[in-house]
Parts: sequence; C-alpha cells; structure tokens
Amino acid sequence: MDEKTLAQKAIEAKEKSLPTYSNFHVGAALLTEDGKIYQGGNIEVSSYGLTICAERTAVFKAISEGERKFKAIAIASDLQGFCSPCGACRQVISDLCGDIDIILVDQQKNIQKHKMSELLPLAFSEKDLK
Ligand code: THU
Repeated sequence: MDEKTLAQKAIEAKEKSLPTYSNFHVGAALLTEDGKIYQGGNIEVSSYGLTICAERTAVFKAISEGERKFKAIAIASDLQGFCSPCGACRQVISDLCGDIDIILVDQQKNIQKHKMSELLPLAFSEKDLK
C-alpha cells in the first residue's frame, strides 16, 4: 500500500464526515499491518463537546473490529495546507497504534510525513501505569 493510495482514502473519507456545526470536513484512513484500511470522518453533535475527530473515528472503528497492529494514518481536511491531529487524537493514536507514520495531505494532494513520536514526544502511555 503506497502513501498516495492511503492519502486518497483519507480524502474520500471526508465525504462521509458530518461536521454539522463547523462545516470543517476531515477524513482519516488508518492502515493496518496486514494492509486493511479503516476510514473515518469527524462527526459533530449538538452538544459540541461530544464531537469526535476523524482520526479517532478511524482508530476506534479498527480497534473495535479487533485490529491491533498498524502502520500509518493519513489525514485530509478542508484546509489549503496540512491538518495536523489535535492533542486528544495524538494521545489516542500514540496509545492504540504506536509509533506509526502520520501522513498529512493538503488540498493539492501533497504529502507531509511524520512519526507519531515526533508529534507527541515524551508521551504518557500504558507503561507509566505499570
Ligand atoms: N477535527 C478533526 O476531525 N481532526 C483534526 O485533526 C482537527 C479537528 C475536527 C473536529 C471538529 O469536528 C472540526 O474538525 C473543527 O474543529
């Protein structure tokens, strides 16, 4: 699975997002180690704080289907430039997916690649609770 294909899946995932209040569409595509892709869009509700980001939608979908090993997540949005995951999503991706590749996609389909550990250095994690 190449980065461009995963990026395209993130762009497609935006179409099913539900940003009723912000009208800011975000799509994510999470790649498992064995090549499956889980897509997610942001979903907003009238009690705004209950909104879920695209990244967490994709991660929770995959985890709830039994997936545990991941390679990369691509993220696309309505921004001209790159949309970097919010703090809450960084913690969730770091905890549940490990040090995967974070692939940011802009409107021109340019790609910027980071490691999860680069976006959340000194992460609190499961090991701190042992
Ligand atoms: N959002 C995401 O889905 N992912 C991000 O990385 C940043 C923000 C969503 C949450 C909310 O629905 C909208 O974008 C505006 O914050």
